[in-house]
Amino acid sequence: MNIRQAAVGDLLSMQNCNLLNLPENYQMKYYFYHSLSWPQLSYVAEDHKGRIVGYVLAKMEEDPSDTPHGHITSLSVMRTYRRLGIAEKLMTQSRESFVFLSNRFMGVRSYKSSSELDVFVLSFVQRSMVEAFGAHYVSLHVRKSNRAALSLYKDTLKFSVHEIEKKYYADGEDAYAMRKDLKTMF
Ligand code: ACO
Repeated sequence: MNIRQAAVGDLLSMQNCNLLNLPENYQMKYYFYHSLSWPQLSYVAEDHKGRIVGYVLAKMEEDPSDTPHGHITSLSVMRTYRRLGIAEKLMTQSRESFVFLSNRFMGVRSYKSSSELDVFVLSFVQRSMVEAFGAHYVSLHVRKSNRAALSLYKDTLKFSVHEIEKKYYADGEDAYAMRKDLKTMF
């Protein structure tokens, strides 16, 4: 089993995996949006023949009125590959990328240049980078009835319930909006 960053060539297989495992499905352009905007954040698990058996699709939430944070859009593992630790590994990889990017940009912030122009350019780049990737926490939604995913998020990955979003899903089921703090990892 191999866990690696998702590439554009994986998107059809990820969509297929999503269609087989979850009722929340997305148009291909939404997969492209994730992959082209934040190629570092989404991961796939592939078997020994290179077939995609699990994925995590992740992005940054960039609402200027909100604290910058990462968001797990979707996670699933094919039925015959479950309980092997794949989802935990996918989530850990994605979370480390949020933290890694945040740390790198903090490095840029401490850079000292003698040229005013460099300082200006750097501060601009730094600001956009921090704004784009300085995730303070990771969020996700999960159905109240999804015992397997809840156990994964709560018990294994130590997410906590931030709030309940009533009728979040198209069929009227409530969602737990969950969060995991990343600040302690900086
Ligand atoms: N029942 C209880 N606990 C479970 C279960 C289960 N069926 N599956 C996983 N867990 C918990 C356990 O604590 C497990 O640790 P353990 O095996 O040492 O007891 C821990 O999660 C880690 O399990 P993994 O093997 O890493 O999880 P897996 O690779 O099987 O994937 C997942 C879990 C993604 C929830 C899988 O069951 C799945 O694809 N389900 C259908 C799709 C889905 O519900 N996705 C999540 C929707 S929410 C979202 O996308 C943001």
